[in-house]
Amino acid sequence: MFINADFGRQVIIPSDTLPWVASPVAGVERRMLDRIGGEKARATTIVRYAPGSGFTEHAHAGGEEILVLDGVFSDENGDYPAGTYIRNPSGSSHTPFSKNGCTLFVKLHQFDHDDVTQIRIDTLQATWYSGVTPGLSVLPLHAHGTENVALVRWAPGTHFNRHRHWGGEEILVLEGTFQDEHGIYPAGTWMRSPHLSGHTPFSVEGCLIYVKTGHLLLAAEQFHDEAIRAMA
Ligand SMILES: [Fe+2]
Ligand SMILES: [Fe+2]
Repeated sequence: MFINADFGRQVIIPSDTLPWVASPVAGVERRMLDRIGGEKARATTIVRYAPGSGFTEHAHAGGEEILVLDGVFSDENGDYPAGTYIRNPSGSSHTPFSKNGCTLFVKLHQFDHDDVTQIRIDTLQATWYSGVTPGLSVLPLHAHGTENVALVRWAPGTHFNRHRHWGGEEILVLEGTFQDEHGIYPAGTWMRSPHLSGHTPFSVEGCLIYVKTGHLLLAAEQFHDEAIRAMA
């Protein structure tokens, strides 16, 4: 299965409009944003657990990155309320479930081979920093090689400089409305912009976004090869 698998092209999806697709597990559904592979895939997905649903134990070949968007996600190690950022590297495994239901942003099979840090961050309790432009505050979540992950809050009326994306940029708008000279992106919008793309972003209303940069350096064919290796 290939969904938005050409990483040289920009993709902008209002994720709220996508259909929920059943997973092999009862009560767990997903909205597929990008995907190379079948049930084991290099994939970016919004996943919804119905109350009382859970997955069987699984390992994380290629790693698993999660931002809890809504509700409470759980596994045998703990409970992770909305706002929790989780990285489960290759070699880890768990049995996830949700007692009262939850919605997650999940990226699978996308860790560098030597990115083995296990991370749990409660973004609602963590310390935020001032950004390079007035009106921006930043919560760094992870950095490895050229890849950087952060939450960025834009105060109403914040404008940022024109910039290019070395290694691409991926954004999920979590709250409010993000904008640039090309469009208006309300909460739920997922954007993946390729290596060396550029824009001049701003926010009239203010917003909170998840941002990952520097992870799309490989050509599309290499992503296919990497994904196939990670799934083997
Ligand atoms: Fe998992
Ligand atoms: Fe950008």
